[in-house]
Amino acid sequence: MSAVSRPQGARPRVLVTGGAGFIGSHTCVELIQSGYDVIAVDDLSAGSAEALDRVHAITGVLPILERVDVTDRHALATVFERHSVDAIIHFAARKAVGESTEIPLSYFHTNVAGTATLLAVAKEAGVTRIVFSSSCSVYGETRAQLLDETAPIAPTNPYAWSKHAAERMIDDGCRYHSDMRAISLRYFNPIGAHPSGLLGEVPVGTPRNVIPYLAQVAGGQRERLNVFGADYPTADGSAVRDYVHVVDIARGHVDALDHIDDHPGMQVFNLGTGEGTSVLELRAAFIEACGRDIPYTVLPRRPGDVPRLVADAGSVREAWGWKPQLDLAAMCRDSWNFQVANPRGYADAGRP
Ligand SMILES: NC(=O)c1ccc[n+]([C@@H]2O[C@H](COP(=O)([O-])OP(=O)(O)OC[C@H]3O[C@@H](n4cnc5c(N)ncnc54)[C@H](O)[C@@H]3O)[C@@H](O)[C@H]2O)c1
Repeated sequence: MSAVSRPQGARPRVLVTGGAGFIGSHTCVELIQSGYDVIAVDDLSAGSAEALDRVHAITGVLPILERVDVTDRHALATVFERHSVDAIIHFAARKAVGESTEIPLSYFHTNVAGTATLLAVAKEAGVTRIVFSSSCSVYGETRAQLLDETAPIAPTNPYAWSKHAAERMIDDGCRYHSDMRAISLRYFNPIGAHPSGLLGEVPVGTPRNVIPYLAQVAGGQRERLNVFGADYPTADGSAVRDYVHVVDIARGHVDALDHIDDHPGMQVFNLGTGEGTSVLELRAAFIEACGRDIPYTVLPRRPGDVPRLVADAGSVREAWGWKPQLDLAAMCRDSWNFQVANPRGYADAGRP
């Protein structure tokens, strides 16, 4: 029996922190479609309740939303009192590398103190299964062409340090509490959108991620794409990343719940495609998808960025058979469809 199944055929219930955000909302869809009930815990600092209405439109099920800050221990404890929960997927975090160099303490507060609070409250409630959103940024700068999970940990910015610290905390929790099981998923660069055009990445203010920026330039809302660094030691000088469709990432979380009891302790897996794409190659693929030109300007490198991060995702394939189903063209097509259908993000539905 799966670790998160319930007796008497009831649907297992997953508490999804950050469930109203980009990856969280796509994961709510995959969870519901795989037979899970979902409680989304989100303070809506970057996510939107509209995303959960869209989950409803896609699946026919409206996830319960608990508008709670994960660093608020008391409020979080009341969520666990109100709902019986079988497992947690923990997305809630601040996520921009550049911003983390401007306000590092806020990053540590949300990402590290928030995780510590969640673990403590979950333990009190007897919830011992957690899937954690980690990031390839924990690996830092490397000469390796492909990074597997044994690559040296070498964060280069406060965001990456916060993810490493949270991972370490969960690992030690598992080490000293023998009933605890965890899976940390180190995503490479999730992009794309739900193929329905209903869910996608909605940045707060100026986009800090490349795809919403490309989409807004193609949609006429911004003049030019900023390419941060064209002097990296890569084929065209722009930074190389491993872009992976958000729906594939979301499916990886359902697989993680199915396999969380395969091994004691914390398991760590990369989620990526193993294909490196430079920013300029991504721009070309997006032009192909949208049929419009995307002018760009080269700016200096951003602090904390590294030249190349590409996954060796062999271990997750071997362990669970997870592999990406959707290619770069699908990622660009779905992102563009979302942009066309929602030029102002969820604000078009009357919500920020
Ligand atoms: N998008 C990426 O490129 C990427 C890459 C690697 C890892 N990750 C990780 O994946 C997770 C989800 O990222 P995303 O792209 O969906 O980001 P997102 O900003 O769209 O989602 C994060 C969600 O968490 C919520 N949140 C933030 N602080 C909170 C708090 N204190 N209490 C409760 N809710 C809070 C936000 O409102 C938002 O809905 C994050 O942990 C991020 O670090 C993202």
